[in-house]
Amino acid sequence: MKHLLSIEQLSDDEIGWLIDSAAHLKATRGRGGQPLAGQTWALIFTKSSTRTRVSFEVGIRELGGFPMFLSKNDIQLGRGELIKDTARVLGRMVHGAVIRTYAQSDVVQFAAYSGIPTINALTDDEHPCQILADLLTIREKLGTWENRKIAFIGDGFSNMTRSWMWAAKHLGFELAVASPPACQPPAEFLAQLDAPNVSVSDDPQVAVSGAHVINTDVWLSMGQEDQKEKELEFAGFQVNAELLTNAAKDHIVLHCLPAYRGKEISEEILELHADTIFQQAENRLHAQKAVLVALVKQ
Ligand code: CP
Ligand code: NVA
Repeated sequence: MKHLLSIEQLSDDEIGWLIDSAAHLKATRGRGGQPLAGQTWALIFTKSSTRTRVSFEVGIRELGGFPMFLSKNDIQLGRGELIKDTARVLGRMVHGAVIRTYAQSDVVQFAAYSGIPTINALTDDEHPCQILADLLTIREKLGTWENRKIAFIGDGFSNMTRSWMWAAKHLGFELAVASPPACQPPAEFLAQLDAPNVSVSDDPQVAVSGAHVINTDVWLSMGQEDQKEKELEFAGFQVNAELLTNAAKDHIVLHCLPAYRGKEISEEILELHADTIFQQAENRLHAQKAVLVALVKQ
């Protein structure tokens, strides 16, 4: 593995290896080696972050490296310097980069021009680090994702949903996405995905029926905050006690956070499943350490 740019581009084996490695790193936290010793990793963020920033800073330090946080306002990227020039400079100075931004093409271009390991820490297209943490959480809570039904209720074409759809394609579990018609993945994307185990409907009850994992995310992703008319589409798509009535008896609820209680999830359900949801947040640290280890092994 040279980069982590998307779930789409990972192989099935790489996903399995990363989850195994994350579980091992979690079990041996504080007793591991320092594979990043002597390395500096740049964290280039053009969007807000709590979990991703903190888990990468802590994870890089725990593996012996030094994280250097660069918000877009700190560097010339914020004044219009090209991503490919930024990449060519940083590639000569630091050992790896973690990037949170808007366009997937920026992360791809950074990887190509910098020549250093590059990690997608969220773009408009994908959130691969989150999915790895979510899969680890499912394995911890349910033992496996095999023969489990996973439901995603919310924006059907957000970074989270797209990464979930690619994960389903790789791993073969049933994924039922329920979204308002205006927020569903376009036909071209579904044709490219070509995954008969992924279904899309506008009926949250159908998606949740018999599901072992119920997943949701904000209705307006970062960068869409002023699209108030989009938010109106989501009436009836809240994950709440009534919706979960027909879920599998031993279901879990996941939320990548931050959560907006009273919108995509009710206060009651978030608090009822807080143990799982905050374990999911903690797992960002372990999953990302597994990614860092895999990238420096090259
Ligand atoms: N889930 C997630 O990526 O959280 P942050 O935006 O706080 O990093
Ligand atoms: N879909 C959300 C995920 C936040 C972690 C967003 O992009 O804002």
